[in-house]
Amino acid sequence: MSREVHIIDHPLVQHKLTLMRRQDTSTKSFRELVHELSALLAYELTRDMPMQTIEIETPLETMSSRVIDGKKIVLASILRAGNGFLDGMLQIIPGARVGHIGLYRDPATLQAVEYYFKMPSGMEERDVIVLDPMLATGNSAVAAVDRLKQTNPRSIRFVCLVTCPQGLKTFHDAHPDVPVYTPAVDRGLNEHGYIVPGLGDAGDRIFGTK
Ligand code: URA
Repeated sequence: MSREVHIIDHPLVQHKLTLMRRQDTSTKSFRELVHELSALLAYELTRDMPMQTIEIETPLETMSSRVIDGKKIVLASILRAGNGFLDGMLQIIPGARVGHIGLYRDPATLQAVEYYFKMPSGMEERDVIVLDPMLATGNSAVAAVDRLKQTNPRSIRFVCLVTCPQGLKTFHDAHPDVPVYTPAVDRGLNEHGYIVPGLGDAGDRIFGTK
């Protein structure tokens, strides 16, 4: 498993993403769409989660049946836009634990600097899904996964709404073992580090801060 990119091309996902990209989509609609889309993404992301077989009692007899293996999944949100994914994903994975990673870019060195990091205990037995709507330059994604790997989780997946070839390259040069799940790989980055055509600033559009 190396440099995996999973394109989520389900018609519902693509349709909702198109609506989100439109500049005339309101904050209210954008938020509703990110909520719906994240639930659909969670479904695809968990498709190959390891399972175990347990014995249960139905009202009629004992049977062997399958459940997701191991401790509860961790949704690791890269602040702040990653939080936009949480409600929709938790609807599908209600028992998930939630971790937060706060990073800012040092204006002098342009390096990502961590200001907050909180994960649940027992990370060695957990599968982590890293949430960040835009995998753009890839720098914060790389820094977030660098830090997460120090907790030694069982597996890591990365999910975004939109990425671009530069972001994927930077990310997979640093973390070839972490699969990326995305509905779209756009053309590239503009001079401000925004994905084009993209959907603008995901955090501003989710939180209405523009
Ligand atoms: N962050 C965003 O919110 N949008 C981009 O296009 C790039 C980074």
